[in-house]
Amino acid sequence: MELLDKLNWRYAAKAMNGETVPEDKIERILEAARLAPTSSGLQPFEIIVIKNKEIKEKIKPVAWNQSVITDCSHLLVFVAWDTYTEDRINYMFDLTNDIRGFKNEGWENYRQMLLSSYPQKPAEENFNHAAKQAYIAFSQAIIAAAFEGVDATPLEGFDPAVIDEILGLKEKGLRSAVMLPLGYRKEENDWLVNLVKVRKPMKDLVTLID
Ligand SMILES: Cc1cc2nc3c(=O)[nH]c(=O)nc-3n(C[C@H](O)[C@H](O)[C@H](O)COP(=O)(O)O)c2cc1C
Repeated sequence: MELLDKLNWRYAAKAMNGETVPEDKIERILEAARLAPTSSGLQPFEIIVIKNKEIKEKIKPVAWNQSVITDCSHLLVFVAWDTYTEDRINYMFDLTNDIRGFKNEGWENYRQMLLSSYPQKPAEENFNHAAKQAYIAFSQAIIAAAFEGVDATPLEGFDPAVIDEILGLKEKGLRSAVMLPLGYRKEENDWLVNLVKVRKPMKDLVTLID
């Protein structure tokens, strides 16, 4: 119940007050994103945390001039791999072996299966798959922010090509997927804060097959 209360409290803040979110809260929100499940456990994305005022100012005009970009405390940018490469796949499989301290034939066969499929696919298809995984972490960050009493604005309204340029993502084989400004709501400037949350009824969402 407590979780649902927090999810009802949260909303996509349209105005923030510029107050700083304590680093321990930010760390727990990022940890929730890190713990997100991903397809084959590949975690094909990174998170860029922007506190820098000048960079936020640069981003704002290519993000529909949304005030939360500059009035947030920390701007998270979820960036996904531009494609799956052998190195990237091997990195996660090797990391798993290192952390668990053993090699397993079934796991190694699974590695080979991924190596013989993903890298051969078109980069755009791979990026779209990687971006979907980034959204899972994004969603966990949204929930964690609500849990911490931190406001967040899920934000897709930006020009990804320009953001990629500002953040120098291309050279790193990354592309921006979605953003999450974190901060505190500024109620007096926010038209959404007192409006009732609208969601379709459960019957239009869920089909039970008994
Ligand atoms: C992927 C995604 C992208 C969104 N992009 C924006 C955005 O660019 N600007 C904005 O003000 N709200 C954005 N929203 C917020 C949605 O409009 C909002 O979550 C939805 O209307 C439900 O309202 P609530 O989050 O306040 O409950 C986005 C939400 C999601 C999940």
